Amino acid sequence: MQENAKLLIDQDLAHIWHPCTQMKDHEVIPLIPIRRGEGAYLFDFDDNSYIDAVSSWWVNLFGHCNPYINQKIKEQVDTLEHVIFAGFTHEPIIKLSKRLCEITPPGLSKCFYADNGSSAIEVALKMSFQYHKNRGEKRPFFVSLENSYHGETIGALSVGDVKLYKEVFEGILIQTLQTPVPENQTEEAAEVAAKALETLLNERGYEISALIIEPLVQCAGGMHMYHPLYISLARSLCDKHGIHLIADEIAVGFGRTGTMFACEQAGVSPDFMALSKGLTGGYLPLSVVLTTNEIYDAFYCDYHELKSFLHSHSYTGNPLACCAANAALDIFENEHIIEKNREKIAFIKVQLERFKALACVKEVRQTGMIAAVELHQKDTQRRVNLEIFQYALSKGVLLRPLGNVVYFMPPYILTCKEIEMMMDAAYEAIVSLKDF
Ligand SMILES: Cc1ncc(COP(=O)(O)O)c(C=O)c1O
Repeated sequence: MQENAKLLIDQDLAHIWHPCTQMKDHEVIPLIPIRRGEGAYLFDFDDNSYIDAVSSWWVNLFGHCNPYINQKIKEQVDTLEHVIFAGFTHEPIIKLSKRLCEITPPGLSKCFYADNGSSAIEVALKMSFQYHKNRGEKRPFFVSLENSYHGETIGALSVGDVKLYKEVFEGILIQTLQTPVPENQTEEAAEVAAKALETLLNERGYEISALIIEPLVQCAGGMHMYHPLYISLARSLCDKHGIHLIADEIAVGFGRTGTMFACEQAGVSPDFMALSKGLTGGYLPLSVVLTTNEIYDAFYCDYHELKSFLHSHSYTGNPLACCAANAALDIFENEHIIEKNREKIAFIKVQLERFKALACVKEVRQTGMIAAVELHQKDTQRRVNLEIFQYALSKGVLLRPLGNVVYFMPPYILTCKEIEMMMDAAYEAIVSLKDF
């Protein structure tokens, strides 16, 4: 390893606490300083390259240092880097908002911005609660699906259901209700889960503000996938009880499930749609909650009526981030990405076949550009994910399994050859597991 890389590691560990990391691990697992990125590849200081098979936490859509997005940001930075977003506005955000309202499901016509996924969830939850309050109803509960993940801030964590992140904070979270997620991708499983939701809503619907779901794929919950039918059944049940449907498309939005937005596959318009991650092509922090005019109108009144939505973040609607988002949407449009991805989706399907023959593989799943290989977990103490991460890295592929689920969520610029390389590394990594 180069001297300057070693120095960077020392300086990093002296001053930085990394996210979602047991820092002691870095006594034995080296931190990897990345010198540059290009396309689907990250390069370290020894010029080793790694295919970013997880799109750097699912954000990157069109590669690192994408020349088009780079150029657009360079132009914007010399024009306006940031401006307070209360009482002021700017062109990039107006253009972006119009475009988002046009491409998201019908009925979503107002955009409220924040700067990360978890904050967008807080916005959607608070807006839903206050909407009911503004109309004179008290509905203090939210329902979410078992095994769901919506972020790490207190509200977002409260509606999540991944024990690993939630358990420690149990005493300080808001009380929420969970309902079963469909067990698998079949229509039957969707119907069974919808029945359970129906029972819950029949009992407690009157005190529930919103149902929040990750449409089609629960990503952090081990890439658990389910049928679009559940979304349409849930929509009908919510309508029946006057409950909002919040679609958290932070991870699955922008083409990940094969369509621009996952809700499209169910033909459903939610009351709130939360977007982030791919929104800026993976460049800058930005999130948005889209909602309906009907919800917007419930807050629209004379100031003294105290019905305003008084929520803000300092970096709301940052022009550089909006500019990156507009550039990402340009690429979607100009390069017909959704259509082009169809070939890649089919190729991934073929590539996944070989995993099914491995005895240690429990299930292989795919929804669009998201693929997962779940392994049987015999020894829960064994950190199989770490073993696979390290093996794949030695083969030039950045995989980051979630427990015993090896998954692929690559940038869309990956060629079929690179998809094959990514799958080869994962396959070899799984086969190399000793006594597994
Ligand atoms: C579905 C979903 N919602 C919310 C979040 C939280 O987003 P952020 O990490 O930007 O706070 C994530 C992050 O992985 C996510 O996958």
